[in-house]
Amino acid sequence: KLVNDESLGVATKPNLIYIPISGWVHNLRVQGKDMMFLVLRDGTGHLQCLLKGRVCHTYDALTLTRESTVKVYGMLNEVPEGKKAPGGHELVVDYWELIGRAPSGEENYENQFNEESNPEVLYNLRHLVIRGDRASSILKMRSIIIKAFRSHFESKQVTEITPPLMVQTQVEGGATLFGFKYYGEEAYLTQSSQLYLETTLPSVGDSFCIAESFRAENSHTRRHLSQFSHCEAEYAFIEFDDLLQNIEDMICGVVEAVMNDPIGSQLLKELNPDFKPPSRPFKRMPYTEAIAWLNERNIINEKTGQPFAFERRMTDTINEPIFLCKFPVEIKSFYMKRCADDRRLTESVDVLMPGVGEIVGGSMRISDYQELMDAYKREGIDAAPYYWFTDQRKYGTCEHGGFGLGIERFVAWLLNCYTVRETCWYPRFPGRCQP
Ligand code: 4AD
Ligand code: MG
Repeated sequence: KLVNDESLGVATKPNLIYIPISGWVHNLRVQGKDMMFLVLRDGTGHLQCLLKGRVCHTYDALTLTRESTVKVYGMLNEVPEGKKAPGGHELVVDYWELIGRAPSGEENYENQFNEESNPEVLYNLRHLVIRGDRASSILKMRSIIIKAFRSHFESKQVTEITPPLMVQTQVEGGATLFGFKYYGEEAYLTQSSQLYLETTLPSVGDSFCIAESFRAENSHTRRHLSQFSHCEAEYAFIEFDDLLQNIEDMICGVVEAVMNDPIGSQLLKELNPDFKPPSRPFKRMPYTEAIAWLNERNIINEKTGQPFAFERRMTDTINEPIFLCKFPVEIKSFYMKRCADDRRLTESVDVLMPGVGEIVGGSMRISDYQELMDAYKREGIDAAPYYWFTDQRKYGTCEHGGFGLGIERFVAWLLNCYTVRETCWYPRFPGRCQP
């Protein structure tokens, strides 16, 4: 383990330990003929190493290259204040081994790309880009965030399930399905695991999953991916207000957990120093009110359609999280429950965040068998492949609801990233399916 002071424990007592450490050369600086500084990286942190005298000449240390792998042995010293070293430590190396030398010259890591490279170059070299400070910090942060989602659900006794990703039903409309042949049959990559989560309610109770979802979105935007990590949860015997409460609890709980995590809080400070946790309760805005808001400012006329191409403008102006509620039936998915006081509307919600827009979509679900059959019909959906979903309405129905949150959009919001292409590991979008 490298810089982490706690993980080094003993090492904070200078000169008391002799530790072998393996890692990648993150940075190197040669001073004269027999002195060099290496910064090693092993994923737990960074460690500055000092090579002096004869040590510099073993395996031609002076010709070492960035991203080579080495194993070093030596004494750990505290670095005097004023002299900078990651973690305040420096390893004075008295023996080292070369594990793998990275190329020099034109093939040198540093010659492959830089901050100004064309995005296409950066996407092609994503496997090397993720070794950099910013990309690796974002990936670390993603891991801390996902862990926080899991802990949140665990604390609420919501059971994790692992859904099938190859399916024969759509959830969010036929237009964005990726189809493929499954042993000769038509199948799709799942758009959402929601319908499956609904089937675990009578089995294990409230449930959640963090799984990949796929959308053949032909949109080149900074918040759409063809594959994204989807955190979805489903709750039985709740009402619409409980659903909103659950979503708010989750978002605020995860933010708090990240800020209480020693590495999470450090990374958050580095990546988004201006971040302020959202205040509660979140603003609630019915869809009709949002249309009025936009109309008053002449941003959109409802009749010209597509009002929520403008949702980001509204959210950025209001500059706080918004529960946008009760969308009209015709612009929402087939499974959504209608409002008792206005059958033209649904008990639905999107969470809008400044800078990103929608990060959560959720709703109460139809609980009545006949209403569900009518909804299939209205949407022109063949009910046959949904028999297992329909059965939920036959064998002991219940009021229930849930939501899906896009992890990449959540991370983009928390870290103030320009695009969700930066907040996933290997982004998938039209025209990009490698590395
Ligand atoms: O609003 P969506 O389409 O809702 C559903 O899929 C529901 N079935 C979820 C549920 O109720 N269980 O997607 C939910 C969230 C969005 O708010 C967004 O954060 C993310 O998933 N998302 C995407 N993220 C990146 N790229 C895309 N193409 C996305 N599509 C949806
Ligand atoms: Mg949505």
